[in-house]
Amino acid sequence: MKLFSAVLMGVGIGFAGAAWAAGGATDVPASVAEGAAKKEFACGAKGQKACPMQGWMKTVMQSATTSGDGAKIASALEYVAAKPPPGMPKWAAISKEGAEKAKKGDIDGAKASCKACHDLYKADYKANLRDAAF
Ligand code: HEC
Repeated sequence: MKLFSAVLMGVGIGFAGAAWAAGGATDVPASVAEGAAKKEFACGAKGQKACPMQGWMKTVMQSATTSGDGAKIASALEYVAAKPPPGMPKWAAISKEGAEKAKKGDIDGAKASCKACHDLYKADYKANLRDAAF
């Protein structure tokens, strides 16, 4: 009987060890492992300073757009195109397409790129990348 329980214990330890090794080997990003907890930023909320890209969008991008000046809008969109965040493969293409339209004086066409990118990436950016330099 003594021997039997010792074997059982050995199996128990062996199993726990295997489970630990399997857990350690999986490559789960910390944000997911922590149970989809919402990331907190020291910017962007009421009473806080604007986040880098948020501030840039509100000043540079917004004023270029309200000016209706195709060259200004194009250069702002080219700036955005040059800064694609990781994991957002269409970012640059959307911005460049908008810039090309702005250069040709197609302001409405250029504005379509604002919506295209906002629809596709804004929520994700705000949830995960807001504090990145821009
Ligand atoms: C390739 C992507 C992309 C393009 C193109 C783009 N934006 Fe944005 N924009 C964003 C992201 C991402 C945010 C969110 C930034 C944040 O809040 O941290 C944002 C935020 C904004 C905001 C701030 C909203 C708020 O209240 O905080 C304004 C205003 C804005 N964009 C205007 C524009 C305009 C106008 C255009 C087109 C002329 C444009 N954007 C094109 C990605 C883009």
